[in-house]
Amino acid sequence: MNRIFQWFDERTGLSGPIRGFLNYPVPKYVHRNFLYTLGGLTLIAFMLQIVTGILLAFYYDPSTEGAYNSVDYISYQLPLGWLVRGVHHYGSSAMVILASLHMLRTYYFSAYKKPRELNWLTGVLLLFLVLAFGFTGYLLPWDQKGYWATKVGTEIAGSVPLVGGLIMRLMRGGEALGQATLTRFYAGHILLLPASVALLIVAHIFQLRHHGMAPAITKKAQAQSKTFVPFFPHWVITDTIAGLGLLALLVYMTWANHAPLEFPADPTSNSYVPRPEWYFLFYFQLLKYFPGVLEPVATILIPLFLFGSMVLLPFIDRSEERRPWHKPVTTLVSIFYIVVIIVFTILAMAAYA
Ligand code: HEM
Repeated sequence: MNRIFQWFDERTGLSGPIRGFLNYPVPKYVHRNFLYTLGGLTLIAFMLQIVTGILLAFYYDPSTEGAYNSVDYISYQLPLGWLVRGVHHYGSSAMVILASLHMLRTYYFSAYKKPRELNWLTGVLLLFLVLAFGFTGYLLPWDQKGYWATKVGTEIAGSVPLVGGLIMRLMRGGEALGQATLTRFYAGHILLLPASVALLIVAHIFQLRHHGMAPAITKKAQAQSKTFVPFFPHWVITDTIAGLGLLALLVYMTWANHAPLEFPADPTSNSYVPRPEWYFLFYFQLLKYFPGVLEPVATILIPLFLFGSMVLLPFIDRSEERRPWHKPVTTLVSIFYIVVIIVFTILAMAAYA
């Protein structure tokens, strides 16, 4: 075994970098705090999506004639197909929740401050790409739910002043939803997005390793900031246990409630009420408050403002203070957003009930 390892090492020279990666010193306060596993858990959720996604791709047919039947076959006839599809379905929600919670952790711990601006910015992009995964994946079964939500979603993009029409045609691959749309969403979902997310995760983790974890914010954690444990096995074991817990939860959710599949897409139906995935509901609710000429406020101004403030945050908040209870403005602003998102989601759910 040793000789095989040596043979490879002489040719690749990888043992040094791998040892460096595994022995990386992690402060004890990080290892002991569950909140610091959220980033690793998001990564594990992404890996689960890749594995289940590859398995699904062996049977999925990306054509408007075949997509629905192939998903129906995976769900009801293929041995364990329901399980793989269910873990992928609930896994996408898990990724959105975990990436959002991880973002809140880094936000409240002020981990976006100098010199970690790029870590935060790659994170912001990752969050948007995770949402794009959800949006593109929703259409793939080519059922009523996916078809009509995508029709409305692309119409929203189409209502952006000046460039809206172009964006909508680019997304749809023409004027109407059809084969070109499905091909584009499929290519985005299985090629463009996974490659972009994987590259960004590498950049994100490289930044993290370059600067180390942001300073601790509590006195108790600060007292432990000079004591370190190696990344392997300590952090790896914690994350693996958390990852197995996540997998168990996804399997349980699938077993309790199989991933939904509605009737096949019917472009002529005029009674179907379009419904997006639950994590876009708050946005659908927001759109209701800006009808007619006010629509661009919700389709362009508010998203631009939100995205812009997330991007600019590390450059605006430059104080030394990191404790959220001493930073009322950033803390209250975030609480306001969280409350609005929860209330709007509940209102939208009540409207669909
Ligand atoms: C696919 C999505 C993501 C993955 C896989 C990921 C992964 C990770 C991991 C493994 C860590 C180290 C452990 C931890 O702090 O939990 C980390 C740290 C960090 N992440 Fe993410 N992340 C993602 C999304 C985000 C988002 C959406 C943001 C914010 C907008 C963000 C900002 C940060 C920052 C600032 C740090 C440094 C934390 C510190 O120094 O204390 N990440 N990320």
